[in-house]
Formats: sequence, structure tokens, C-alpha cells
Amino acid sequence: MLDLVRVGTRGHGPGVRQLASRLLRAVPPTVHDPDAFKAALHQAMAATNASAELRFSGGALPTEGDTVRPLVDVDAAPDGDGLILAAGAMRELDEIVAERRLSEKLHSAGVGLTRSLLLSGPPGVGKTMTARWLAQSLSLPLVTLDLSSVVSSYLGSSGRNIKAVLDYAKSGPCVLLLDEFDAIAKRRDDDADIGELKRIVNVVLVELDRWPDTSLLVAATNHPQLLDPAVERRFDRAIELQLPGWEQRAAILTYAAAGSVELDPGTIELVADLTEHMSSSQLTRLWALCRRRSILQSVPVGTVLVEEIARQCTLTGAARDKLIAALRARLGLSNRQIADLVGVSHPTVAAALKRTKGQP
Ligand SMILES: Nc1ncnc2c1ncn2[C@@H]1O[C@H](COP(=O)(O)OP(=O)(O)O)[C@@H](O)[C@H]1O
Ligand SMILES: [Mg+2]
Repeated sequence: MLDLVRVGTRGHGPGVRQLASRLLRAVPPTVHDPDAFKAALHQAMAATNASAELRFSGGALPTEGDTVRPLVDVDAAPDGDGLILAAGAMRELDEIVAERRLSEKLHSAGVGLTRSLLLSGPPGVGKTMTARWLAQSLSLPLVTLDLSSVVSSYLGSSGRNIKAVLDYAKSGPCVLLLDEFDAIAKRRDDDADIGELKRIVNVVLVELDRWPDTSLLVAATNHPQLLDPAVERRFDRAIELQLPGWEQRAAILTYAAAGSVELDPGTIELVADLTEHMSSSQLTRLWALCRRRSILQSVPVGTVLVEEIARQCTLTGAARDKLIAALRARLGLSNRQIADLVGVSHPTVAAALKRTKGQP
């Protein structure tokens, strides 16, 4: 393994091959299924022949102007595990993957694949993650261009830079993510800037029309309303991602908790109840924070979660009553302590406990 890493990081293809052949001859005894391992190894070695994998080596990356700074980020092994979306959105994503699995069938019927996808939705609902999930599911590298940074830092040459990236992504199979896509639609005060932005939009429009179906172009935006309707119409599909509903929040917690500690179903349901309006990203961060704290303080993670939710509390009505009841039932806090934590008055706490009869 160490040898493999050494020759691999130096980009020494023949060395990697030699080591791979050695592995083929002597499969390590710890491998469960030697035949499957050999087949996978053969396949991996064959892939290095095709230009598809090597194309994404550092040297070929488009760079900013005359510098060596790469414009894009290339992820050869994107990880979208644990993506949880509403059923409708998930179905569309599955369909995009299925189209590519059955591309021959579609082609022979004279029907094209989904080549471009516009993902919109509030921050932290998984737009970037969805692009990773798609690339992973399609076994393609993920090439990411963050348009907000390109547009803000080098507006003068943005058009050229974006064209270079699109050409690069078109030259072989990949998923291209144009992240923060609305950056090219934002209005500026400077006339020269407006002219340049218009030029960029035109570059993208032309490219969308003739995008090849070998690669999938994904654009992500938090502000679809900023986009020119002409731009939106050019995408083959548009999916709007929403803040997670109760089912998704429970699923995100279940996924996050799997493999670490037992988070009992009752607690998952309670936390899902108490995290309405949170984005998926806020929820995963809340979980990570509480998990760390629970280990450091040797306190059950469910208790830490309820306390942290109370500290950040933005809940009202029945959800706040539920939180207050949970603070009493799980943490044994006094009315005064609960009032301080949640930021409400003492009588509010008493009334909430009365309404819920202390049952979260
Ligand atoms: N739908 C989701 N399912 C599971 N985890 C999610 C989801 N959305 C966001 N996350 C978590 O939050 C992180 C940030 O989300 P991200 O994809 O960057 O959101 P966006 O691009 O919509 O702002 C992800 O890396 C993941 O850990
Ligand atoms: Mg994002």
C-alpha cells in the first residue's frame, strides 16, 4: 500500500501498474472475495488506459489567466453518502442516474439524456451535496467551479475563464457543478461590470444549448429569482430542494447516529419535532456539535441535543411547549432554569408545563 501511494503521488503510471500486477498475482489474504478483487483491479487498470481518468490530472486543469492557479476543483472520488431529500426530488435524481444506465435504450429511440440540471433552494439543503451524490452514483469525477469567487475576484477575465472550464468539462465524461450560479446574474453598479456579466450569461446560454450528453452540467443557486427566465428555461431539468420535512429530519439524524451511539427512536422523534425550520446542514452541524459535547462531558447525546436546541431556541407555540416539557422530563431543570435557557418568562414555562402536563 505504501509503495502504491509513493509511486501514485509521483504520478508514475508504470510503477502503479507494476504494483497492481503484483497484487493480482498475490491477492492479500485479508481480501474477502479474491475473484471480485481481481476483477475490480483489472477494471481499474483498464481505466488508466482510457484518457477519461488521466484527463483530470493537475497539468490539464484550466487556470486563471497566466497563473498556475486552477480555476476548478476536481474530486475524483466524490462522496454523497447520506443524502436525504424529499421523495419527489430523490425520484428525479434516481431518474437521471437511470437514464445514463439505460442510455443505449434512449439513444436507439432517438431520445436524449438529461444533460443539464438546475438545483435551487435555500442554503444548506444539499445542493452541493446532490452534485456529489450524482457524480458518485454515475461513477464520474466531480469538477466544481464556484462562480461567486470567479466573478468577484476576476470579473474582467471571467468570461474567458468560464469558457475554459466549460471546454475542459466537455472534453470528457464528468459532472460539472457550477456552484453559486446566480453570481453571474447579480446586478452591479459599474457599467463595465454589467457588460461583462451579460457576456458571461451569453457564454453559458450558448454552452447549455450544445452541451454534450457525455457530461452532466449541474448549476446550483440559492437565489433562482435572480436568474433571467431565459437562463432557467435552457436547463433540461430544474429541481427545487426544500428545507427538510419531519421525515427527512428524522432520517438525517438516524443516518448521522448510525455507527456511533444508540440514539433511541423516541429521542430522534423528539429532536425532529424540535428542529422545524432548520436546514439539513444546520441539523448535521447540530448533531456533530452535540455528539462531541456528549463524549467530552459523558452525557447522553439526547440530553445534550435538547439542551442545545433550547439554547438556540427560535421555537414558538406547541413546539416550544414540547421543548419546555422535554427540558423538565429529560434534564430535570427547574422552571427558573428553563426560563433562562429558553429566554422566556417564568409564568410562560409554568403555563407550557401545564398545557403539556409535562409530557414532551
Ligand atoms: N439533504 C441533505 N441530506 C443530508 N445531509 C445534508 C443535506 N443537505 C445538507 N447536508 C449536510 O450539510 C452540508 C452542507 O450542505 P450543502 O450541500 O453544502 O448545502 P447547499 O449547497 O444547499 O448550501 C453537507 O455536506 C451535509 O453534511
Ligand atoms: Mg452549496
